Amino acid sequence: MKLSKANAWRTDLLENKCNQLMALEEVLEASKNRFGYDNLIRLYGMSSCEYYAKGIRIFGRTAIEAKVDSQANFIANRVKETVQNNYPNYEISVIDLFMGSGNLLYQIAESLQSQSKIAFERDENIYNLTRSNLELIDFSVQYHLGNFQDLFPKIQLNNKNLNVIIIDPPWGNKGAFNFSKGLDLRLTEPPLIEILHFLKKQIAKTPVIYVVPVYKIVVEESLLSIAENYSIYERGLTLTPATKIGYVIGKI
Ligand SMILES: C[S@@+](CC[C@H](N)C(=O)[O-])C[C@H]1O[C@@H](n2cnc3c(N)ncnc32)[C@H](O)[C@@H]1O
Repeated sequence: MKLSKANAWRTDLLENKCNQLMALEEVLEASKNRFGYDNLIRLYGMSSCEYYAKGIRIFGRTAIEAKVDSQANFIANRVKETVQNNYPNYEISVIDLFMGSGNLLYQIAESLQSQSKIAFERDENIYNLTRSNLELIDFSVQYHLGNFQDLFPKIQLNNKNLNVIIIDPPWGNKGAFNFSKGLDLRLTEPPLIEILHFLKKQIAKTPVIYVVPVYKIVVEESLLSIAENYSIYERGLTLTPATKIGYVIGKI
């Protein structure tokens, strides 16, 4: 798909069809538009046909925003290795500040076999849809509807656990992303550094690993400001060429 057409298609799903339920045919079509191939919008370990058959549904925005299985699985395995190498004896809480479809939360929590899963989502439509989707596959989560910055201070964290925190903020409309320059982490909503500073203030006593999926191209200066303030264990790209994205795993 040409770049201008890809941008127009993406904007249509994120704006006009943002909270519209997609038919299965539209999800299959979205896979071709987003990745150039069929059947790549796999979620929760299933093909689109399989999860539609179970009653799972997605919105237009989810077809763009969700980290699909090939991406989420790869990142989950890298997180698992980081945890095994650095915190082998901890019980783990997985916390997703920006739940969306919940697929990244699902894959990371499954790979770490975490019993404690906490998710924040401020959009009521996607909150309700994801909650009912995850209930259909018996994946239990402690859900919080609202802005994570308001709600995080109110949750009770187990102070013996290692916290693995997923940070996948919207790229928004401040120009954080375009296909050629990539992703500028200073312009996500909120900027990544602000989220890390916020978490540092909130969680003083227990170790925190942060996990950030990013576009395959990142504006280098924007990552530099993170590296100056917070350790980075690993920065890489996921494996499957058609769905390749980047990720950053670090420590607060
Ligand atoms: C990029 S999407 C996350 C995608 C998700 N990782 C997935 O795999 O589907 C960002 C999500 O965070 C939600 N969101 C945005 N700002 C938020 C905030 N301040 N607090 C909680 N949720 C927020 C949006 O409504 C959106 O669903």
